[in-house]
Amino acid sequence: MTVAVGNDKRLQDELKRSGNIPTHIAIIMDGNGRWAKKRGLPRIAGHNEGVESVRDTVEACGQLGVKYLTLYAFSTENWKRPKDEVSMLMRLLMRALRDETDKLYQNNVRVRVIGDIQSLPQEVQSELADAIEKTKLNTGLNLFLALSYSGRWDVTTAIRKIADDVMRGTLSPESIDEPIVSAYLSTKDVPDPDLLIRTGGEVRISNFLLWQLAYSEIYISSLFWPEFRRTEIYAAIADYQHRERRFGMVSEQVQSSGHKPSTVTQFLKNVSRL
Ligand code: FPP
Repeated sequence: MTVAVGNDKRLQDELKRSGNIPTHIAIIMDGNGRWAKKRGLPRIAGHNEGVESVRDTVEACGQLGVKYLTLYAFSTENWKRPKDEVSMLMRLLMRALRDETDKLYQNNVRVRVIGDIQSLPQEVQSELADAIEKTKLNTGLNLFLALSYSGRWDVTTAIRKIADDVMRGTLSPESIDEPIVSAYLSTKDVPDPDLLIRTGGEVRISNFLLWQLAYSEIYISSLFWPEFRRTEIYAAIADYQHRERRFGMVSEQVQSSGHKPSTVTQFLKNVSRL
């Protein structure tokens, strides 16, 4: 669904008025292959079109004031895909970084990365390093690309570093608590996602941010990723604003601590009318 610029601004303003904008949104971008297959196209056509959704999502999140956006762009498990698809994905990623970095810089987006970066082809690593360096002083949206990433890899790497520090005597086992574990993960200094979006209709976490998603609200869209554009992000955020996040407490405690149920029903109707 596309919206005219004026309407888009109006929808964004309405969304900002109707409740909290999540600080951190994480997305499992699924369904590129199925989008292509439905149209009789090669899978890479779906990934290509998926880049358009990435562009639209990044732009909309930046405009809404989302502080962190983490995109699951290539999982540890994705290395098992056919060689051709892996190398096309790597080329696509490189091209997207090369083509988009200037615009990301101008839009005050800071590019960051999580994952086993050393396992990526050298050219991708160097394109990433350029994008990270060029945007490092930007203060708007932090765009985290999860590349060669998996939640279990993240936790395992953290455990290894913790064990190392315990052996060296710089960390005592008794001092290890949840904030310490968080500080050893690749997402240290980043608040946990408020909202996890998954496209493509599957209802699973697929080894994404396993530790960090403990209390995230989950939004599943049946749309394939190439179909998921800015109005879908708005609908996901509007849905999030309806949720009551209790973090294990009871409803009364959360409400007395200042939670206001949001009034976004009209907003959702507006989105579906456009
Ligand atoms: C999942 O769809 C998607 C991926 C494994 C890759 C995501 C990559 C992009 C959207 C393009 C590049 C990204 C950036 C950040 C520029 P799938 O292939 O698993 O789809 P399927 O479930 O229908 O097979």
